[in-house]
Amino acid sequence: MDTPRPSTEIDRSQPPAIRVLMMPRETNAWGTIFGGIILSYIDQAGAVEAVEMGCEHVVTVAMKEVEFHKPVFVGDLVSFHTRLMGVGKTSISVKVIVEAQRRLDSDERVIVTEADVTYVNVGPDGRPRPVEECRKRKSKR
Ligand SMILES: CC(C)(COP(=O)(O)OP(=O)(O)OC[C@H]1O[C@@H](n2cnc3c(N)ncnc32)[C@H](O)[C@@H]1OP(=O)(O)O)[C@@H](O)C(=O)NCCC(=O)NCCS
Repeated sequence: MDTPRPSTEIDRSQPPAIRVLMMPRETNAWGTIFGGIILSYIDQAGAVEAVEMGCEHVVTVAMKEVEFHKPVFVGDLVSFHTRLMGVGKTSISVKVIVEAQRRLDSDERVIVTEADVTYVNVGPDGRPRPVEECRKRKSKR
């Protein structure tokens, strides 16, 4: 099998949704960062995109095409960049690209993970609500 290559360029005109300095408590049995930790941050980062659209309450319905290209190490400064990929009636799809800065005193940056995440805007009853309502709410602010 070919070595997987990152499929998406980062839009550097936009700041990352979140940045995290990786800590020893987040490691797996081999001393690198546990994949589930990265997934958790991916989930949060993608949700920021939905919140910025004015959605107050979204739930994750699917995480697809998660690719862990490279390991993440303790001390890496990890940036979670997002890109809006599509908006449906009630759903919002976001690409999350994860980049690690290996040493804080260096410019070495590596794309370590990519994922496609879909969120659904829901009401107080937990049922899907049109994304259009988010936009209307935001425009009234
Ligand atoms: C998200 C949830 C409210 C959707 O309810 P539902 O009855 O399946 O709703 P629908 O079938 O009407 O689908 C709603 C939207 O989600 C999309 N969707 C549903 N399943 C999907 C999937 N596997 N992948 C991508 N999109 C999906 C639908 O296409 C639809 O989008 P659209 O309105 O933009 O066309 C429900 O599945 C749920 O509560 N899931 C648990 C969410 C959760 O707790 N997440 C945290 C995980 S710990």
